[in-house]
Amino acid sequence: KTTMKADITIMPGDGVGPEITREAVKVLQAIGSVFDHDFSLNEVLFGGIAIDATGTPYPEKTQQSCKNSDAVLLGAVGGPKWSDPNMKIRPEKEGLLEMRADLGIYANIRPIKTYQELIDNSPIKNRYLENIDMVFVRELTGGIYFGEKKKTDAFASDICEYSKVEIERITRVAANIAQGRRKKITSVDKANVMATSQLWRSTTTELIEKEYSELELEHIFIDAATMHLLSRPADFDVILTDNLFGDILTDEAAMLTGSIGMLPSACLGEDSFGVYEPIHGSAPDIANQGIANPCGAILSVAMLLQYSLSLEEEAQVIEQSVAGVIEESILTKDLTGSGYVSTEEMGTAVTKKILQT
Ligand code: NAD
Ligand code: IPM
Ligand code: MN
Repeated sequence: KTTMKADITIMPGDGVGPEITREAVKVLQAIGSVFDHDFSLNEVLFGGIAIDATGTPYPEKTQQSCKNSDAVLLGAVGGPKWSDPNMKIRPEKEGLLEMRADLGIYANIRPIKTYQELIDNSPIKNRYLENIDMVFVRELTGGIYFGEKKKTDAFASDICEYSKVEIERITRVAANIAQGRRKKITSVDKANVMATSQLWRSTTTELIEKEYSELELEHIFIDAATMHLLSRPADFDVILTDNLFGDILTDEAAMLTGSIGMLPSACLGEDSFGVYEPIHGSAPDIANQGIANPCGAILSVAMLLQYSLSLEEEAQVIEQSVAGVIEESILTKDLTGSGYVSTEEMGTAVTKKILQT
């Protein structure tokens, strides 16, 4: 075993962010001690809590810490306190989106995994849920999120923009992932209406034909995709899509697994640096009750170890420990109709499993 040294920035954020991040950090430290790695953690302010303390959601110190780190672990940002649309500075836009753009993390990887024990928790009938194994590759620093915005009392507009270069680089990310899997990409767009989608479709088609001819590429429209995701979820391997469509489809896909609290994500750029966060938000409706599911955050640590630090075995130990805990019916409130464990108990159960391996 080789000992690894890594600097990791921790950004708990708002709402359930601090509760779930605490458990994820526990898991990260357990991995550090079992595998003898030297993880140096630096906790910084980000989101609404940073607005309250400093006036800005992504303060200079936070920016520097991210840039001096090998990876960042993020909880979630936002909440009722900062959600008045007339506020000039908000956790989502000036925090999260600004951070993604500033760090150049244009590829959002969101794997969708179901657990046999949780299948009855999904609102979808069991027979549709067998053999689901898909990964979303969502473009994260372009599209309608980042085009020019205008707003007056009587008019508002958001511009959706994509360059060929932006589409090519995210397509390569999807293609490289598909090569290690079932070699199929489904690209989701609205090419029957949107100019950006037409460029998206022609660019993905051309690039896959030229550089990845061994891959199968199918195109479907976003409206039909929302339907196919429920009617034939097991058919999908890698789903490639833009910023907005990817945001919406991954919350929908979460319902196949039974809870959005289970799903992790990686946000990557050109090198091994990445920001890792559960796909859910700050869940203000359940914050400070000790009932949030920390598994999405814990599994984001697994993605961090895998993608930023190339620690494959360590990542697998986390995934197996989460699966093991679920097998034993140790479940948070979102995963069960009846008895349930707290956020902290869930984190402790996963940590114990790791220390036993
Ligand atoms: P949300 O994902 O926070 O919550 C949606 C539903 O899922 C809620 O009922 C919530 O209780 C539940 N849920 C979410 N995470 C859970 C968990 N870990 N365990 C159990 N249940 C969980 O989405 P929302 O309510 O639309 O947004 C709330 C706030 O979060 C908003 O301010 C939004 O902008 C922000 N947000 C932030 C991020 C992020 O930081 N990456 C992502 C999405 C939303
Ligand atoms: C996500 C969130 C963000 C997004 C919001 C909070 C800006 O929904 O990370 O999925 O839309 O990207
Ligand atoms: Mn979202």
